[in-house]
Amino acid sequence: MLGEECDSAAYWKKCGDEALAHGIKGVIIMGAHWDAVGDKIRVATNPKPDKSPVAYVHPSKYADYKLNPDLPTAKRCIAALQAEGFNVEPDASFNWIHDTYLILIRMFPGGCPPTTIISMNARFDPHYHVKVGATLRPFRQENYLLIGSGGAVHNLYRNKWGPMLTYRDNFAQETPPEAWALEFRQAVEDVITTNSGPKLRRGMTRLMKHPLYRDAHATDDHFMSAMFVAGAAGDVEDEGTYGKMYAEDWELVRQTSLRSNEIW
Ligand SMILES: [Fe+2]
Repeated sequence: MLGEECDSAAYWKKCGDEALAHGIKGVIIMGAHWDAVGDKIRVATNPKPDKSPVAYVHPSKYADYKLNPDLPTAKRCIAALQAEGFNVEPDASFNWIHDTYLILIRMFPGGCPPTTIISMNARFDPHYHVKVGATLRPFRQENYLLIGSGGAVHNLYRNKWGPMLTYRDNFAQETPPEAWALEFRQAVEDVITTNSGPKLRRGMTRLMKHPLYRDAHATDDHFMSAMFVAGAAGDVEDEGTYGKMYAEDWELVRQTSLRSNEIW
């Protein structure tokens, strides 16, 4: 999606401009493509990461962008997570994936701020990932920007791949999204826009019990960073601050959007 021009791409740019105007110290991001097995979680500490290639996106759109891994902050994140009981380890060989670097390219085309990537855990326990966000929440007070990137509806098994394979057109949208996709997308928006503080955390985790959750997410990976964000933005101190819907795109007919909250 971010390989092409779309509302989400424009939104991320605006978000990046605002982040720079706020003088952010760095970015701490959880994406949708990196998970650790067992009971572990990882933090990226590769000083010179490569970029893993993106299918259907021309390398000229990302190959030359210089990544900026924030090793001191990675170390601090590891310490904070360890102090909360997480089985966390550094990963000095991890190469960055498009779930994070395409966001950074869109947000900060002029240069990548110091960035720390946090993995998911492959058991995809919503409460675990809320706790990861809650644990790293204090970094917001130091002016770090915490980001989750994923999708409100993301089911690769139900994508319509034809227009992409034939014409490289991911936004063809020959038929509209079906009811199950629209229903779940609405449930996500409702939780984010009408709950704050601990209620936001409860609402987000509860979405995984929604009757249409498994239709909307055949696998859990693209929903976990929303838990991370809810943890980071759902403290008692956050009561009264509600999320907003900033941008929405659907691609491959049945896969939506990059829906993320940004937090300062
Ligand atoms: Fe993805």
